[in-house]
Amino acid sequence: MAVNRSVIRGVGAYVPKRVMTNADMAKIVDTTDDWIVERTGIHSRHIAEEGEKTSDLGIAACRQALVRSGIDPLDIDLVICATATPDRTFPATATRIQAGLGINRGAAFDVQAVCSGFVYALTVADSLLRTGQFRRALVVGAETFSRILDWSDRGTCVLFGDGAGAVVLEAQPTHGTREDRGILFSRIRSDGRFEDLLYVDGGPGSTKTTGHLRMNGREVFRHAVQKISGVIEETLVATGYAADEIDLFVPHQANKRILDGIARKLNVGPEKIVVTLGKHGNTSAASIPLALNQAFEERRLKEGSLVLMEAMGGGFTWGAVLARW
Ligand code: UT7
Repeated sequence: MAVNRSVIRGVGAYVPKRVMTNADMAKIVDTTDDWIVERTGIHSRHIAEEGEKTSDLGIAACRQALVRSGIDPLDIDLVICATATPDRTFPATATRIQAGLGINRGAAFDVQAVCSGFVYALTVADSLLRTGQFRRALVVGAETFSRILDWSDRGTCVLFGDGAGAVVLEAQPTHGTREDRGILFSRIRSDGRFEDLLYVDGGPGSTKTTGHLRMNGREVFRHAVQKISGVIEETLVATGYAADEIDLFVPHQANKRILDGIARKLNVGPEKIVVTLGKHGNTSAASIPLALNQAFEERRLKEGSLVLMEAMGGGFTWGAVLARW
């Protein structure tokens, strides 16, 4: 039976020019390159310039994804931006990206699921494309986390970075089998009881300020390994694939030790895991599309590759998407 699938037609990314190394961090807070590398795997991160906004990063990433897809921006009828660091409280950063690309048809809106934002946004876009309501979507993860960091808190400020990544999705008729190209399965989850472990201590409706990121790193770490492994397991069971049939794991990039822990649990070799953490840090909703982009540029993504994406973040939110490139 013919079914619509959301096929990934192109990927693109953008990171701000300014690079901040661990040595630069050590000039600001009481930390060392050794500590950061050993505990997280991060060596450096990109930081947006004054005035450089989340939408600016998103637009640049979308432009590259559009060029690579060969699709005209005017043929895009859906723009979804996953971000926890919008340019403004409203309108949605997605509508600013839409306007920046010269698109004035269809719909644009933001998805807020912090580090799981890209997995959530892909899931929402896929649902809307499969029903036939839209035909071509830009799904972008864009963040300027540097704006919400407490630069005096060494436990958090060394972890995050700024950047954006985007994919172009197109609804295409397929056979409806697991060998199809496109998004094959996705699962999103949340549990709001864990808010106090990872949150921003401000907001227009509470403090009327932007606030700063607060995290109980050790507890988040524990939940991340557990919840991500669980949702990957569900994805494999639902689709009937074994972990060793996955060609490429494109995980959210929070901590190298989390990635290693999950890889050990699933028994997958390092050659199948995309790691960009070293040069990007944790870029929240941007981290998966930034990693997809790196895998594409390194020619690790081929037509037909089975790709598993997963993430966990504030809320808690978590989820996974299985797609065939
Ligand atoms: O993307 C959303 C999901 N986020 C995550 O998944 C993050 C998950 N958590 C983590 O990645 C890790 O928990 C961290 C990297 C945040 C922290 O690593 P940890 O091994 O859990 O360290 P810790 O928080 O238990 O702290 C150990 C020690 C503490 O010192 P004492 O109390 O043992 O004397 C900290 O004060 O390390 C100290 N510390 C630092 N030392 C040097 C914390 N941050 C730093 C730092 N430099 N930047």
